[in-house]
Amino acid sequence: MRPLRIVVLTGAGISADSGVDTFRDQNGAWVKNNPMKVATPEGFAEDPERVHAFYNARRAQLPGVDPNPAHVALAELEREAVKAGGSFTLVTQNVDNLHARAGSKNILPIHGSLTKVSCQACQEVFDWEKNLSVKTPCPSCGARAMRPYIVWFGEIPRHFDKVEEAMMEADLFISVGTSGSVYPAAGLVGFARERGIPRVELNLEPSDNAYLFTDKRYGRASEVVPAYVRDLVGL
Ligand code: APR
Repeated sequence: MRPLRIVVLTGAGISADSGVDTFRDQNGAWVKNNPMKVATPEGFAEDPERVHAFYNARRAQLPGVDPNPAHVALAELEREAVKAGGSFTLVTQNVDNLHARAGSKNILPIHGSLTKVSCQACQEVFDWEKNLSVKTPCPSCGARAMRPYIVWFGEIPRHFDKVEEAMMEADLFISVGTSGSVYPAAGLVGFARERGIPRVELNLEPSDNAYLFTDKRYGRASEVVPAYVRDLVGL
């Protein structure tokens, strides 16, 4: 494999084959729940227990799901890219922690994580596996002001300075399992096009910005991603 500086963006579709709901497919999370009520600061202010119940249910799913071959293939690609003298940055919109469990290292979780919670009083962040409620005291300051460590609609995604830094250096951009409907993540392929670098979409079906990609392979991520990585690495 030649030295490549790779940036990968992943969305819910990469975890679909692990049994994690996507958002906008026919039985997705935003079909079964109103995102304005469970994924906005306003929804949390209006009814915090409803929001806690939504994330408690998604957090409770995690012990029953495992990384699939797509997550594993991206961890392998990272190791091969670094071994070849290149670099690898994994920008994920997912909050299911499956990339870390598959062995990926350089992960930028721009929408937060289901396995963490934060205190709105002291801003401390905690690893968390149990249920959360308005009555849960902060382990650090004792305030009853805990919230899921999730970036909601209308809030600023995290680590975007590092994302932009990696995109400035990249010579290959790969998008996996995202509908390309939420910014600023959905804008990354446009940034890659401005830089004139190859842009690959690996997805079940064409995303909203499929026309911006230079290479497209459609199918289930657990099949398409390992095949693409084998071609790229020459395994
Ligand atoms: N393999 C590959 N792709 C798949 C699979 C699969 N098995 N199943 C579904 N997909 C694709 C769908 O075709 C769709 O393009 O994954 C994409 C999922 O899109 P969304 O449900 O919109 O999820 P995502 O793009 O991650 O949403 C982005 O929206 O609500 C916010 O914060 C939330 O991070 C999320 C963001």
